Amino acid sequence: MNEPISKTEMPASLPGKILTWLGLLLAIAGMLAFVALCLKDARSHLSDRGPFFGLIAYVLMPAALVAGLGLAGVGCWLKMRRRRQSSDAPSRGGCGCQDSSSRCQLLGTVAGSVVVMAILGVAASKAMHYSESDPFCGEMCHTSMHPVHQAYTNTAHAKVTCAKCHVAPGVSGFVTAKYYGMFELQQTLQDSFPRPLPAAKHVPPAKDTCALCHQAGKDFGDVEKVYTHYLSDATNTPYTSHMLIKVGGANPVTPADGGTHYQMFIANKIEYYATDELRQEIPWVRQTDLIKGKVMIYTNGAFKGEPPADKIRTLDCNDCHSRVGHPYNPPTDLVDGALAKGLLKASMPSVRSNVVAALSQTHTSAEADLQQIAAYLRRCYPNDTRVDKVIEVTQKLYSANFFPVMKTDWRSQPNNISHITSPGCFRCHDGQHKTADNRTRITQHCIKCHLFIGQGPENMLASLAIRGGGFKHPHPASKGQENNCFTCHKGGSMPADKLASKAEEVP
Ligand code: HEC
Ligand code: HEC
Ligand code: HEC
Ligand code: HEC
Ligand code: HEC
Ligand code: HEC
Repeated sequence: MNEPISKTEMPASLPGKILTWLGLLLAIAGMLAFVALCLKDARSHLSDRGPFFGLIAYVLMPAALVAGLGLAGVGCWLKMRRRRQSSDAPSRGGCGCQDSSSRCQLLGTVAGSVVVMAILGVAASKAMHYSESDPFCGEMCHTSMHPVHQAYTNTAHAKVTCAKCHVAPGVSGFVTAKYYGMFELQQTLQDSFPRPLPAAKHVPPAKDTCALCHQAGKDFGDVEKVYTHYLSDATNTPYTSHMLIKVGGANPVTPADGGTHYQMFIANKIEYYATDELRQEIPWVRQTDLIKGKVMIYTNGAFKGEPPADKIRTLDCNDCHSRVGHPYNPPTDLVDGALAKGLLKASMPSVRSNVVAALSQTHTSAEADLQQIAAYLRRCYPNDTRVDKVIEVTQKLYSANFFPVMKTDWRSQPNNISHITSPGCFRCHDGQHKTADNRTRITQHCIKCHLFIGQGPENMLASLAIRGGGFKHPHPASKGQENNCFTCHKGGSMPADKLASKAEEVP
């Protein structure tokens, strides 16, 4: 009786045994690799390990451990089923163990489970941490996040993780971020994300992000800034504005200091309704004076009625400092910066207008654009050996600020901190937003926001007036319409008809 059974038992339980051993091997390999990668991670910062390290260490290795144990479980079950089917082996039925060995097995199972649970606990916490790290947010979804990540590395916030500005602290912030993150992950897997990425509707309010590091009431007083520009003429004439920006601040209970920060979010609560996603068109604004309690509503004249209540937004840091995390700069600012730093030589004829034109051409793909930039500049300077340096600098400026694959540059993501190349402050401060009785307008007086203390074609510090003065526009084109800077200044090449008006007006 025994012989035939032992002959059939071995081969029949073999698949179960093989599965069990394979599963155990996979689980042990996953566990050892997990521990080794954890130790490796502990020796340096996660962000130095590249985008896939966290995925491999904290998701794939624990997954291998769980899959291995699952496989071993299936193997055991197959073996047990085989034994149950074999009527001749009842004593090994159930677990197939005697009392002492089943106690051993029980102890082994409990100890194993504790180790596995501990590993999974550590892995879950590490995976959560990883899902908020810069390599995951900025580099994993390489195509969609490339522009943001590239622009971010050049800012004062390059060491502030994406999550600090994009995930509010606490459970609800975490859940909200993961909820929207799931849609983004799905779009990435299906390659269906919009190009350019839409404005971030779900950026948490600044009180949960910026305000954790910045003291909102800090009094900055007047901040001094020097803007050096160059004209699009043959000699690249420099034109500098030297000004004090009234940033201000101060707590409402201390004597009023004034300035932008004080007026815009300490003494007043400003709410607005924007009709577009990028929040560039603002027809309706409500100001609540937090000290006197007075409420004022301003509209741009064309807007009638009440805006939808769920579309009214309270202005915070993000509305003005919209590009602090990842700015895309316009060609004019990039070229003026390179000239001011001496990277481009103002002695090269028309270098300002030529490089701005090279950067403003239609963008197709990074590779084609880099070649187009080189070809264009070589045509501008056929016999000048300095052109190689000009091309190198221009291509560097291009790579850090232009992302044709994602259709992303300064035009798709405007910076709201100013009012020259996009409306910025003038979305409301355009002199057109007024109360229903027509008596009060949101101010456009230059001096409410900044004081000019020097300006002109050369360094004008010698002519610094103690009380400042009005802005003297360097070009006659702006006569009579100085206030709408962004109608002419688009950040790229100045339209020929605007430049030409100089010739008409200058004798
Ligand atoms: C200092 C804060 C800050 C940091 C750091 C930061 N961001 Fe942002 N981010 C913002 C703000 C503010 C906006 C909203 C801009 C607006 O309203 O126009 C934004 C918008 C975005 C958008 C929407 C598209 C766009 O460009 O407006 C994406 C995507 C994004 N951030 C991803 C990231 C990633 C990825 C990182 C890390 C590599 C990061 N951010 C780091 C503040 C930050
Ligand atoms: C984790 C801390 C942290 C968070 C969050 C943070 N910042 Fe900053 N921010 C800093 C530090 C530190 C500096 C100074 C960096 C330096 O000078 O090297 C800075 C600099 C700045 C500056 C001056 C430099 C510049 O880029 O113009 C502004 C403006 C600013 N932050 C605004 C913001 C806004 C708006 C937010 C929210 C969207 C924000 N910050 C979120 C830490 C933070
Ligand atoms: C109404 C627009 C507006 C709002 C809202 C706003 N700021 Fe500013 N902030 C400015 C302007 C304008 C400047 C000066 C120009 C610049 O730095 O680019 C400035 C400058 C700063 C600076 C740099 C000061 C320096 O010494 O250079 C910091 C830091 C800053 N803001 C942080 C914040 C934080 C944090 C918040 C939210 C609590 C905030 N800002 C809200 C307009 C605003
Ligand atoms: C959403 C609309 C809106 C935007 C955008 C906006 N403001 Fe204002 N601002 C107001 C309102 C409303 C007032 C109060 C009415 C007034 O004083 O003109 C105000 C008042 C001010 C004042 C006080 C003016 C005074 O009369 O003393 C300053 C300074 C100021 N804003 C600066 C800025 C700066 C700088 C920007 C851009 C970085 C900006 N604001 C963007 C709506 C806005
Ligand atoms: C509501 C506030 C506000 C008003 C009103 C305002 N500005 Fe400005 N302006 C700003 C801010 C803020 C900046 C600079 C922000 C930055 O660069 O960080 C600026 C920058 C400038 C600059 C330097 C920009 C550059 O790139 O060279 C000039 C020039 C200027 N303004 C002219 C004017 C003139 C002229 C008026 C009056 C018709 C005016 N501004 C009214 C807020 C204002
Ligand atoms: C009707 C058109 C027009 C308007 C409106 C206009 N500008 Fe200009 N601006 C020009 C032209 C044309 C030039 C010469 C550009 C060149 O040489 O590249 C120029 C040059 C400048 C320059 C020096 C070079 C440069 O490109 O930066 C500054 C600074 C400037 N403008 C500031 C302003 C400000 C600030 C406003 C709004 C308060 C404004 N402009 C409104 C047409 C205009």
